[in-house]
Amino acid sequence: MVRPTPATVNAAPRPTGTPARRGLDALTRELGLLYGGDYNPEQWPREVWHEDVALMRAAGVNLVTVGVFSWALLEPRPGEFELDWLGDVLDLLQVSGIAVDLATPTASPPAWLGLRWPETRAVTADGVRLSHGSRNHFCPSSPVYRERALTIAGVLVDRFASHPAVRMWHIGNEYGQVCHCDLCGAEFQAWLHRRYGTVDGLNRAWGTTFWSQRYDDWTEVVPPRAAPYLINPTQALDYRRFASDQLLALYVEQRELVRQAAPATPVTTNFMGFHPLTDYWRWAPEVDVVADDTYGDPADEDSPLLQGLAHDLMRGLAGGAPWMLMEQAAGAVNWRPHNLPKTPGRMRLDSLRAIARGADGSCYFQWRQSAFGAERFHSALVPHAGPDTRLHRAVRAHGAELGRLHRVVGARVEARVAFVFDWSSWWATEERAMPSDRLRVMDQLLAYYRPLWRAGIAVDVVHPGGDLSGYDLVVAPQLYLVDDDDAQNLRGVVERGGVLLLGPFSGVADADAHIRLGRFPVPFTDLVGGSGEEYCPLPDGGVPVRSEALGDFSATVWGERLRLDDGEAVATFAGGDLDGSPAVLRRCAPSGGEAWYVGTLPPQAVLDEIVARCVRSAGVVGALGRVPGAGPLLPDGVEAVRRGDVLFLLNTTTEERDVALVGVHHDLLTGTDTTGTVHLGPEDALALIERIA
Ligand code: GLA
Repeated sequence: MVRPTPATVNAAPRPTGTPARRGLDALTRELGLLYGGDYNPEQWPREVWHEDVALMRAAGVNLVTVGVFSWALLEPRPGEFELDWLGDVLDLLQVSGIAVDLATPTASPPAWLGLRWPETRAVTADGVRLSHGSRNHFCPSSPVYRERALTIAGVLVDRFASHPAVRMWHIGNEYGQVCHCDLCGAEFQAWLHRRYGTVDGLNRAWGTTFWSQRYDDWTEVVPPRAAPYLINPTQALDYRRFASDQLLALYVEQRELVRQAAPATPVTTNFMGFHPLTDYWRWAPEVDVVADDTYGDPADEDSPLLQGLAHDLMRGLAGGAPWMLMEQAAGAVNWRPHNLPKTPGRMRLDSLRAIARGADGSCYFQWRQSAFGAERFHSALVPHAGPDTRLHRAVRAHGAELGRLHRVVGARVEARVAFVFDWSSWWATEERAMPSDRLRVMDQLLAYYRPLWRAGIAVDVVHPGGDLSGYDLVVAPQLYLVDDDDAQNLRGVVERGGVLLLGPFSGVADADAHIRLGRFPVPFTDLVGGSGEEYCPLPDGGVPVRSEALGDFSATVWGERLRLDDGEAVATFAGGDLDGSPAVLRRCAPSGGEAWYVGTLPPQAVLDEIVARCVRSAGVVGALGRVPGAGPLLPDGVEAVRRGDVLFLLNTTTEERDVALVGVHHDLLTGTDTTGTVHLGPEDALALIERIA
């Protein structure tokens, strides 16, 4: 008999991006935009702590996250607690006027836990039990780990919940790992039992008549582990869903401890953007503040777009409410093979981008650069060389200018374009044994996002079951798996006169990852005015496509054998095996709405034109009133976002840029006024409000 554990979350409500509960209001009303980072004073002698707080004050730091990795110091031996040093740190921060986001240290258990209770250590799919000596080596299903984690968290809560410095709680750190041990196997069985009710239900959902995989009893079911060949895809998908829920249960049970002791204090944990192991649509309703870690790569020219997209996801997860950037790097990270540092300009741009896109806080990993340990070459707000450095001077200057952005605190970014993204769909698409592993969800998201970013058009990333009523254009760049309700929700966009743009290989599978039978995209064929029968990854070198509307082009990677029904073939394959088959379909609905289906990968310029047409049909304009494909866009590399009544212009290039504006604008960052065209130096930023003449 399988027994569900008490803290489970798979009865969680339908994930639709419910607004976070407590939010940042109380904190930001008092402190303004939050600025600071992870503070690890346990790595330093006490005299350094005093220098730290003096430097923090000088830099405008008003929030630090303390204690993330301090379990072994707080509980050096099982049941023996040494909290006084942490109390001293909190007292010092309190008298210095610096608020604390106090972490429970449960991401990195002490050596004694794993040595005395080996089952608390996670096991890989190959059956290797992980060792201590790094971090995050815990098994989320181990009752001993959970009990010990609750104990240390409870001890901290008892001692510090009413400490005046503690204004936020930070549970664990970057939840996002997976374990394959027998304890997880038993919890997986219980999770499946709750999901499917009967073993027959499980067999149906997993399609176990295939390859003799039928189960007779829950206890026969195991996590996906090293196996001779392909694993059942629904088993793999469900394990990802389970693994995310299992971690979420850990978060929830610690959060409850805090809630009982300090009901008004917001509780959070740090997300990791489009992280492949955690379904944040299920997590978001459980956090009081959506908080994210974003590490843009200065070597990647798409970094501003990727960061923007991640921030738009956070805003979507928060239901439009302010979120916070919990961690970013001020300079270089040390976990890529080759780590370019950020210039001070880049550091500032990355921070302001988050603020522009709805964050009410911009914090860093970490305050003081470690002299030892695995992250000794990771940048920090105070480098090894000390405060008399270019980086730290930039940190101070940025702290001062954030103090001048009080006006945006709590303000909203209004988006009329939604991007549909769902973790289950992503997971199901990235399984093995698909028609092509060159068709990647993240690539598609970025390709469809690019023209909108360039035009300064705000985008909210939303769940396919979310409230789409406020959006005139809904884009699903690649929504492979979609359940019936969510498909209906998307259809509603066109039925009420909006524009729906579907990318390739969308609407293919149902919630169990079974292929929907019939001509595809099964839930949308009538909307797009055409239908398909065969997925046809394209030969290397591309295939010619003819299009009067878009201009002829060469399609790569992906094609589909589509036929025209009552829609319009905007583009048609003109050669190869798909000769004569529509590549892009469009249909105008009687409602005045429109649906597009792009059954291939056009070059970026062609995709830009498709998106531009959808934008124009939807009547959406960018932050400067710009519309892609109608007149000049923003100068190349200038990012424009409007938050409340503040227009952020970020020059992501290393060249000068001018942006044509009309009227007088006041820059909140420098306090200067400009009439007409504004000038941006290399990697420069402006936060403008319109001056009434
Ligand atoms: C994440 C973690 C931090 C640190 C940084 C390094 O943000 O939460 O503890 O490891 O990465 O970039």
